[in-house]
This record gives sequence, C-alpha cells and structure tokens, in this order.
Amino acid sequence: MKAVVITTPGGPEVLKLQEVEDPEVKDDDVLIKVEATALNRADTLQRQGKYPPPKGESEYPGLECSGTILSLGKNVSRWKVGDQVCALISGGGYAEKVAVPAGQVLPIPPGVSLKDAASFPEVACTVWSTVFMTSKLSSGETFLIHGGSSGIGTFAIQIAKYFGVKVFVTAGKLRFSYMCNQCC
Ligand SMILES: NC(=O)c1ccc[n+]([C@@H]2O[C@H](COP(=O)([O-])OP(=O)(O)OC[C@H]3O[C@@H](n4cnc5c(N)ncnc54)[C@H](OP(=O)(O)O)[C@@H]3O)[C@@H](O)[C@H]2O)c1
Repeated sequence: MKAVVITTPGGPEVLKLQEVEDPEVKDDDVLIKVEATALNRADTLQRQGKYPPPKGESEYPGLECSGTILSLGKNVSRWKVGDQVCALISGGGYAEKVAVPAGQVLPIPPGVSLKDAASFPEVACTVWSTVFMTSKLSSGETFLIHGGSSGIGTFAIQIAKYFGVKVFVTAGKLRFSYMCNQCC
C-alpha cells in the first residue's frame, strides 16, 4: 500500500508518499480502507520529531480516519466487512489501509459524509471523555466553555445543548460571529 512517510524530522517537505508494507491485522482489529484522514497539531509535532507514536504503533502520521472495513480480526463481531466507519487511531491514518482495535471504531454519524467523518473521532472522544465521562456534565447544569469558537468548543457546545445543558462561552470577537452562524 501507499503511505505518507516522515522521511526525517522537519517541515512539510519531509513528508513523502511511499510504497510500504500493509499493516498487520491482530485478532481484535479491523482493517480499514482509508477514505479520508485529518490534520491534528500532534501530526505536525510528530513530523518535527517531537511526538513519537506509542511503542509498537504505526510510525505513519494520522490519528483519525474514515473508510470502509476490508477485513476483521478473528475476535471481532461488532463490525462486518463493507461497513463504513470512522476511527480514533494511534497513528497510520495517512495511508491507504490502517489496522485499528475494534473498540476504537465508530459508526458514521447520520447526516455526515464519509469524508467529513474523518475529522469526528478526535474531537468527539476528547469532549466526551473530559466533559461527560470525567466531569459528568448532566442535563439542567450550566457549562462555561472557554475558546468557544475552537474545534473542541464548537463540538462541546453542540453536544451539551443536545443533552439539555445551559451553555456559556468566551471567544474572540471575529471568531464568535462565525460560531454563531454555524452553531447557535
Ligand atoms: N481538536 C481536537 O480533536 C483536540 C484533541 C485533543 C486535544 N486538543 C487540544 O484542545 C485544545 C483546543 O484544540 P482545538 O482543536 O479546539 O483548537 P483550535 O480550533 O485551533 O482553537 C483554539 C482556540 O484557542 C483560543 N485561544 C487562542 N489563544 C488564546 C488565548 N490566549 N486565550 C484564550 N483563548 C485563546 C482561540 O479562541 P479565539 O479565536 O476566540 O481567541 C481558539 O478558539 C488544544 O490545546 C488542543 O491541543 C484538541
């Protein structure tokens, strides 16, 4: 398969499209044919040599992706070949195929295209784990979001409102008017 390889730490010019080995599919993994991936700040830090992937994980960048399931590890029953999904990954999204533990795979949200869904898992898992799992925000409570026009902020506003939370935000003036057109 082809993957975007960090040939040496540096600027964007060190990223090269190269022929590499297909990923190994472990028993708990699904193999995804990648439709799209996303750009996170961590990818640029990894490219500069400042954010190595966890030991044993793909060395290629790309922390989230969307695509179609090509094959399943023998322990996987939640998904089937051909399912369209998105996934939070430890690396390897900048490739034609990526192997992902099945527990890190999500369905495509209704009304979201397969391509756009590639930018969903990082922000969704970050907001869900911090705001709802750790802080246990619940219906009827009030939620102050600093940086409300950010990627994290706009997602947090929408999901908190969905759960019946009263939301206040702080944001820079220009970006705040952008946010109001998109989210409020
Ligand atoms: N996006 C993800 O999936 C993700 C996942 C894990 C962790 N994170 C972390 O979460 C944080 C936000 O990420 P993001 O993707 O949402 O970033 P982003 O879309 O680039 O937004 C950054 C926000 O920071 C605000 N900001 C910048 N300088 C500020 C300052 N001096 N005082 C107050 N606000 C300031 C900006 O608000 P104004 O324009 O209104 O000033 C902007 O809304 C980052 O630390 C990121 O590393 C993000």
